[in-house]
Amino acid sequence: MKNFISVKDVTDIPGLVKEALELKKNPYAFKKLGENKTIGLIFLNPSLRTRISTQKAAKNLGMDTIVMNMDKEGWALETQDGVIMNHNTVEHIREAAAVMGQYCDIIGVRSFPRLVDKNEDYSEDFFNKFIKYAGVPIVSLESATLHPLQSLADLITIEETKTKPRPKVVLTWAPHIKALPQAVANSFSEWMCKADVEFVITHPEGYDLANEFTNGARIEYNQDKALEDADYVYVKNWSSYEDYGKVHSMDSHWMMTNEKLKLTNNAKVMHCLPVRRGIELADEILDGPNSLVIQEASNRVWSAQAVLKRMLEAQG
Ligand code: CP
Repeated sequence: MKNFISVKDVTDIPGLVKEALELKKNPYAFKKLGENKTIGLIFLNPSLRTRISTQKAAKNLGMDTIVMNMDKEGWALETQDGVIMNHNTVEHIREAAAVMGQYCDIIGVRSFPRLVDKNEDYSEDFFNKFIKYAGVPIVSLESATLHPLQSLADLITIEETKTKPRPKVVLTWAPHIKALPQAVANSFSEWMCKADVEFVITHPEGYDLANEFTNGARIEYNQDKALEDADYVYVKNWSSYEDYGKVHSMDSHWMMTNEKLKLTNNAKVMHCLPVRRGIELADEILDGPNSLVIQEASNRVWSAQAVLKRMLEAQG
């Protein structure tokens, strides 16, 4: 594996999930693999889980880690080519990425969308330029459109808790007070469309995700109908893709509650976190026996470790 930007970078998804679960049982088995190797984790946005789980995964593989909060500690980056830099940006991504590539063997990057210009965000210009100029493998810590380390952790969590070979998994939109990216939902959808699950997405009209990530999913605008017999309910807010970055609904009826859980097959409830209690998910679910959110967050370590292991192995 050279880069890890989307599910398309994985040739055998079941094999990667199996490897992650083996690492969970034996975290230090490959402690020598990352010896004398350095991973740089570059954050342009906040993070708790991604930051700590990836550091822990790298440590388990014997790697050194450099973390940089680029938005607060770095120079303001210019990404456009051919511009005269006589405004606020101080350093061009061409030099910044190339220099970081001199110090690191692998670089992880988090860069959220601005949610202003759909074409700009969905072109993944920042990530593509980072890959082009860094000269070392890049792992996504969440891009404008995708969050693959989260989705792999989600699949690991389903794999280790499922009680039937082909569970029904429902991704449901939930209300939120802010406009959030589509990245987690896009990514979860493209991974589920490749997994051995019955996959349904439910959301209010006007919240359809980009087709490129939902090919193979059943879309159901009636949440109650979608939840029928679900084995897993994945709760997530996203802003509108069609009316790009806008919030059309804050309808509290879309919040998952124990009442809605009665429609399901006693479904396990998932969320990538951070979650807004009482808006996206009811306390009774988060504090109840059906919640998998902590196990899911814990699996972020094994997701990252399996991916970093494959990247290190590819480097030789
Ligand atoms: N789920 C997730 O990526 O969490 P953080 O934003 O805290 O890293």
